[in-house]
Amino acid sequence: MKLSLIVAMDQNRGIGKDNDLMWHLPAEMRFFTETTKGHIVVMGRKNYDSIPLKYRPLPHRENVILSRNTDFDAGGCKVFSSIDACLDHFSNETERTVFIIGGGQIYNQAINHPRLEEMYITEINHAFEPDTFFPVFDETKWKKESILQYQADEKNPQSFEVFRYSRI
Ligand SMILES: NC(=O)c1ccc[n+]([C@@H]2O[C@H](COP(=O)([O-])OP(=O)(O)OC[C@H]3O[C@@H](n4cnc5c(N)ncnc54)[C@H](OP(=O)(O)O)[C@@H]3O)[C@@H](O)[C@H]2O)c1
Repeated sequence: MKLSLIVAMDQNRGIGKDNDLMWHLPAEMRFFTETTKGHIVVMGRKNYDSIPLKYRPLPHRENVILSRNTDFDAGGCKVFSSIDACLDHFSNETERTVFIIGGGQIYNQAINHPRLEEMYITEINHAFEPDTFFPVFDETKWKKESILQYQADEKNPQSFEVFRYSRI
């Protein structure tokens, strides 16, 4: 099983506010969709709640929710009450990657997971007013390469750059 993580953050590592994203960037959403399509996405229960009903479960990938509430039921999604129970379940996966897709609580726990081998981090060139953040981590343990630069246009008000991190 390959464990990866994908996140978009602003200039202050902000990822959300009031249980929502702070930006509307269809081009960044397209990158997320294309990267995770066909794979497994693991999200916190609040992240799942924040996705508009018409977009969830996220199509064309297996949706997995983490909740400590063992009665939590979201049609079509597997629910686990710990990250390790979730990873154990998918440990024999050979084709699909397990992507941690947030939010803040889940990133905070996954960032130190020994099996995490890759991260896609989008840096949005703007400072919003977030209430939820992506954690600081030890960048010396990761190789960072730029894989996409996107200039602002009429549909995407902020420019952004996507970096791929791989464990050294
Ligand atoms: N910019 C991005 O890339 C991005 C991506 C995703 C989300 N977001 C943003 O992040 C924000 C949400 O993040 P958040 O930190 O508030 O919530 P979250 O991480 O999405 O979800 C937290 C919930 O996950 C469950 N949970 C946490 N740790 C767990 C564990 N070890 N085992 C089992 N369940 C566990 C708990 O659910 P129960 O309470 O049900 O037990 C907890 O309340 C929103 O603003 C969203 O828009 C941004």
